[in-house]
Amino acid sequence: MSDDEMDLDDGPVDSSITFSTSEAKGKRSAANLPVEVGDSLPWVEKYRPQSLDDVSGHEDILKTITKFIDQNKLPHLLFYGPPGTGKTSTILALARRIYRTTSEAALRHHVLELNASDDRGIDVVREQIKTFASTKQIFSSAKTDATTISSTSQFKLIILDEADAMTSTAQNALRRIMEKYTANVRFCIIANYTHKLNAALLSRCTRFRFSPLPIAALRRRVEYVIENENVRIDPRAVEALLNLSRGDMRRSLNVLQACFAGSTPLDKNGVALTGSDVQRELITETTIYECVAAPHPEDIQAIMNTLLTEDMTTALLTVTRIKTLKGLALTDILQAVAEELCRLEVSPQVRVQWLAGLAEIEGRVAAGGNESVQTAGFAGVVKTGADMIAKG
Ligand SMILES: Nc1ncnc2c1ncn2[C@@H]1O[C@H](COP(=O)(O)OP(=O)(O)OP(=O)(O)O)[C@@H](O)[C@H]1O
Ligand SMILES: [Mg+2]
Repeated sequence: MSDDEMDLDDGPVDSSITFSTSEAKGKRSAANLPVEVGDSLPWVEKYRPQSLDDVSGHEDILKTITKFIDQNKLPHLLFYGPPGTGKTSTILALARRIYRTTSEAALRHHVLELNASDDRGIDVVREQIKTFASTKQIFSSAKTDATTISSTSQFKLIILDEADAMTSTAQNALRRIMEKYTANVRFCIIANYTHKLNAALLSRCTRFRFSPLPIAALRRRVEYVIENENVRIDPRAVEALLNLSRGDMRRSLNVLQACFAGSTPLDKNGVALTGSDVQRELITETTIYECVAAPHPEDIQAIMNTLLTEDMTTALLTVTRIKTLKGLALTDILQAVAEELCRLEVSPQVRVQWLAGLAEIEGRVAAGGNESVQTAGFAGVVKTGADMIAKG
């Protein structure tokens, strides 16, 4: 039986029952996005995974949670990890799987999605969660009996997204509520940083860390979007995009969409042409580096060459010239050069000298240090290491 056939609560929703804060305040959460906005959506939303199969990577996490669901032993969950790795998308896909429906209206009966960054006060925890948690499932008897719907779906699900933005008073209030309603509610707490969450709250949840996505996982989804949207892109540009995203799928898709928009010709009124016969420019490696304002590998190579082989005055002049010409920021150069220096085979002393020196300069730049003074400092650090190598 397909998911659609199992869809229980597709009928009209009683407008007198409000299950989500988003309706009350006119705010939209991911679970409540209307389908009709379709094509005008940014790609990150258009390609938000609908089912667990669409979620790239995190295989172990998905396997474990699916087992919990199948055995009807779903604990309270805590998803944490860096942005753009699929925490929100995964819980929404899991909710569709638990309640065996793809209908947003039906999901709203079972799932309360709160974004704690917006609604982080004590009132939300006390009132909205309490009201939702204490409301009995009203679609139980006849309809449920007629299907094979999983018994886990007797629970409601409360998703507390970006919970690290909640006040500690709200977090304290939450731990009592979590215990009180465990009989009919499961919580999924989502955060970037666990250190901002109350220890008592953490101990009530089973934790899953969403690590930065590996290149292969990024590639799978990015290539799917490239094909679906007919993006003309050089294979080397795809590699650059995946590397520059640093495990953040949201970043990959946003950069890809920005480059795609830039590659689409405009009509005489300045409106982007649409249709399958539009001739788009090829997206190259350079387009990607320019879009994310990251230094191009060729520029980094030129900077490395001058610092490792030429005298200090020439090297500093060359670095400053490349920096000005290409509009590069010292922080970006520092990061890229540090990565390159780590790849060189040098003695531990030289490596320590380079990394400690670059870390020091990065700190000073972040603290507001003068860019040109710090650029000279940066050149000095790399040069000192190079001199140590020369002296053996
Ligand atoms: N693992 C993934 N598989 C497929 N798409 C993903 C994945 N992770 C992220 N995405 C894409 O990136 C977008 C953002 O993902 P999502 O909102 O789930 O990230 P998040 O981990 O909740 O980030 P944040 O911590 O910033 O809230 C999604 O809409 C989706 O398009
Ligand atoms: Mg999120």
